[in-house]
Amino acid sequence: NKTENQMLVIFGASGDLTARKLIPAIFALARDGYLPENFVVLGASRSPWSDEEFRENVVTESKHLREKIDESQKKMITGFADRLFYHELSDDQDSDYGPLKKRIDSLNSEHHTDSNYIFYLSTPPSVYGPISKNLHQQGLHKEDEGWRRLIVEKPFGYSLETAKKLNKSLHQYFKEPQIFRIDHYLGKETVQNLLVTRFANSIFEPLWNRNYIHHIEITNAESGGVEKRGGYYDKSGALRDMFQSHLMQIIAFVIMEPPLNSNAEQIRDEKLKALKSLRVMTDPKVLHDNTIRAQYISSVIDGEKVKGYREEADVDPESKTETYAAIKFFVDNWRWAEVPFYVRTAKRMPTKVTEVVIHFKTPHHQIFKDAGMSNKDNKLIIRIQPDEGILIKFGVKVPGQGFKVERANLDFYYSGLAENHVMEAYERLLLDAMQGDATLYARADEVEAAWAFVDPILEYWKNSDAKVHGYSAGAWGPENADSLIDGVGMWRNPSEQ
Ligand code: BG6
Repeated sequence: NKTENQMLVIFGASGDLTARKLIPAIFALARDGYLPENFVVLGASRSPWSDEEFRENVVTESKHLREKIDESQKKMITGFADRLFYHELSDDQDSDYGPLKKRIDSLNSEHHTDSNYIFYLSTPPSVYGPISKNLHQQGLHKEDEGWRRLIVEKPFGYSLETAKKLNKSLHQYFKEPQIFRIDHYLGKETVQNLLVTRFANSIFEPLWNRNYIHHIEITNAESGGVEKRGGYYDKSGALRDMFQSHLMQIIAFVIMEPPLNSNAEQIRDEKLKALKSLRVMTDPKVLHDNTIRAQYISSVIDGEKVKGYREEADVDPESKTETYAAIKFFVDNWRWAEVPFYVRTAKRMPTKVTEVVIHFKTPHHQIFKDAGMSNKDNKLIIRIQPDEGILIKFGVKVPGQGFKVERANLDFYYSGLAENHVMEAYERLLLDAMQGDATLYARADEVEAAWAFVDPILEYWKNSDAKVHGYSAGAWGPENADSLIDGVGMWRNPSEQ
């Protein structure tokens, strides 16, 4: 694909994301030869920085960039920094946008970026409206000379209602095909590989349905706590922060029907249909029986005392915000009728891991009854991160007399493939947006469909006395989490091979 000359304007450029993720990703794209000949970055935010100070903060003096590169790449840094510019702007101050437009115009003519602009909103969602309104007022949405794209970061709303409002306000100023909603999980190779595993092979897809699959389990665990983001997190919680976005995207890839082809709209149409087929839970009894929320409590990990969630900075000491969420649900369509799905996501777990486990049914007629295999022992484990790979568990005969069966593993690890640098999520996603490919971006209707499923759970948790359970920091969740899945066995311990 071709990357045309362009300018990337980052709003909220003095924030953490720019230095931590965006600039290192753009640097990697530059290093690997993906940037067009004429390319500049214009950072815009409140800090009164000069171009030089911006370059120092996010490039030459940035620890985030230094961590990512080796000695041989250090030479490239100065040349790269020269492509960066900065403009002071209060993003909700209308009068600041005339001067911003002038700055964009002059950089565009000086650096020949062909009037192609990406506006990256790395700001709180509360200013997405004002920024897009002002860009529109300055005519910066119009595509008569070059193209114009808008990238927005999650959270896309706080609830179904606010997500709809947000989409509506963005649509007032930009057309849907111009809007790129970033979900960094879609930039992960292994998430994309879910599609390839399913639709580029003939050995999995025939089994990928209720006839052969007993249940599906998805674990997303982080060992870290809320770190410095207590203020944000306490208003969000695991269900909004991880489930509504990243996990819903993974779920959609796991359950969707085969798209007609790999075009953005075909894939997103199928994802939308998949998300709409999730059985929405509204009955309080059903919600009670199928959802669990919990918070980590202080504990000692590797000899060090770790704070409980309610003791973290900027967290309400009486907070009910969940750092652990486990949900059991069903998908009401032909393929998945009555197959239970179990999904859990949490902070302060024993390890950082994300995996999808497909548990297959026991063979209908068992001739090796006392053979040592337990029920549902055929599993396909898709390891999203870390140790990215795919594991198949199956029974083999133990050498010797009789038919004793033992479980064996067939393992594929991505590390074997990745001789070259594997693009990180932000690199891949930024490059796609630069090339106008929205396949790995979330569409408005998808986001709303995901909220339609999550909203009633949040409402139920907010308005009911549903217990907020506790789990020791560093444990696999609260004790009662097992009761959610005990109908089909127990949660897989991802640390086991
Ligand atoms: C972010 C969440 O979107 O994803 C964070 O806001 C979370 O709370 C992070 O830690 C996890 O991303 P990854 O790529 O490290 O799994």
